[in-house]
Amino acid sequence: MTEAGSPDRRRFLTAGAAMLGGVASAQLWLPAAARAAEAPLPEGVFSLGVASGDPLPDGIVLWTRLAPDPLNGGGMPDRAVPVEWQLAQDERFRKVVRKGTAMARPEYGHSVHVDVRGLSPDRRYWYRFRAGGQLSPTGRTRTAPRRDSFGGSLRVALASCQNWQHGWFTPYADMLDQDPDVVLFVGDYIYESAPSATTVRRHEGTGEPYTLVQYRNRYAQYRSDPDLAAMHAHAPFVVTFDDHEVDNDFAGEIPQDPDKQGHDAFVDRLTAAYQAYYEHMPVRATAVPNGPHIQMYRRLEFGRLARLNVLDTRQFRSDQATSQAGAQDPSMTMLGAEQKRWLLDGLHGSPARWNLIASQIMMAETDVRIGEGKLWYYDAWDGYQVERNGLLREFAHVRNPVVLSGDRHLTMISDLKKDFADPDSEVVGAEFVGTSISSNGDQDQDAFHAEWDPRKADNPHWKVIDAHRGYHLFDIHRDGIDARVRVVDTVTRPEATPSTLARLRVEAGRPGVHVV
Ligand SMILES: [Fe+2]
Repeated sequence: MTEAGSPDRRRFLTAGAAMLGGVASAQLWLPAAARAAEAPLPEGVFSLGVASGDPLPDGIVLWTRLAPDPLNGGGMPDRAVPVEWQLAQDERFRKVVRKGTAMARPEYGHSVHVDVRGLSPDRRYWYRFRAGGQLSPTGRTRTAPRRDSFGGSLRVALASCQNWQHGWFTPYADMLDQDPDVVLFVGDYIYESAPSATTVRRHEGTGEPYTLVQYRNRYAQYRSDPDLAAMHAHAPFVVTFDDHEVDNDFAGEIPQDPDKQGHDAFVDRLTAAYQAYYEHMPVRATAVPNGPHIQMYRRLEFGRLARLNVLDTRQFRSDQATSQAGAQDPSMTMLGAEQKRWLLDGLHGSPARWNLIASQIMMAETDVRIGEGKLWYYDAWDGYQVERNGLLREFAHVRNPVVLSGDRHLTMISDLKKDFADPDSEVVGAEFVGTSISSNGDQDQDAFHAEWDPRKADNPHWKVIDAHRGYHLFDIHRDGIDARVRVVDTVTRPEATPSTLARLRVEAGRPGVHVV
């Protein structure tokens, strides 16, 4: 936000103007006696904005967190505070259809999660909060279509990997203009790395977060990105976490460096990280953590058009392999037995035309060794060969499976093959690895292609590989999915020029993906 009059600047001012415009009507919410009894709060309780998530045909989660001093623990008094909320059919709140009061409690960082029900399917709504006489920005959201609806279309944005230090989250400004029905975020919402003096922007704090307050401050800093805040206020998100919400490359209760963090210390860290994650995400009460455990894998339905299976590929996985032979050990699991059964049940019993799988990490093979032999990344599905291959064999009997992934900080769009060891193997699905919002910053594209293009012959299933920052956009119809790779020219400044790098199509009933 450096130049007045830029699109981003305008967008932010509009949100502010809407907030000021609502003050007069907000005073009418409460009876006079209740207003008088309302204890004053520090100015700026809605500094983190608003969000919504996990749309149902009749419900939506509304979120905010009161934090007048966002980078220093929040700055709220140590007591529960009532927060009124309203949800309306119109932007001006003339037709309020649901309202209530939720408690923002200190033990949850004064976050508020309202699970509104009784709404109409496939409908746009506006919402806002009020606390201590202060009014939040207005958010916009949308419910899912009726469960039995056959027609229509769905626009989904796929995002991941937003490293504050690597750049501004400029792809979200374009995403907002593209107006998706829902944003799917598949991990690395924050990065746990220590502040660096040489990056585009600097992390708050003095080191990596370990405690609850430290993680809260980190999430609060990320939410201060103007384009991310505006996107949250514009459309519902469906989120899942990957490793950097806790610790790079962790697996279950095993940290990246067990020598540096003992088991008990890492369990404390997981507990703090999951709690802060819940506090900052628009998710249902099913995701309230129980110590070092959080329930994140879940299904969302978009009529008979699409079923979205959101995976958790961190909590239940075996520790990463360290060799090609280790990656082929049949005892290695990515999902754990229970989640794997849940996924297969949901795929085989699905009434949906499209069966989407949100996987934090890439499922298609990445063979990084040029020529004879293979070399895989062991943190991705390649490191869990037997379970991955079993899943791909099942895909042959699933209606239109499409995997949506992150982690790689690259666009990698692939056919999914039943057996990557056999070049003539049957294609059973498609995968989109949705680059990154900012992680890895502005990459040298020539250097990327010089390094990666020679590997294409070893990975004939790759359809597009690219190193621009951005996200993927999907228009899902009954007969096919039209996908666009949307990229920006830079994340080193708060404003960027977006463009479409590639267009792809997945045809219903014909597994695989092709460049248009
Ligand atoms: Fe990442």
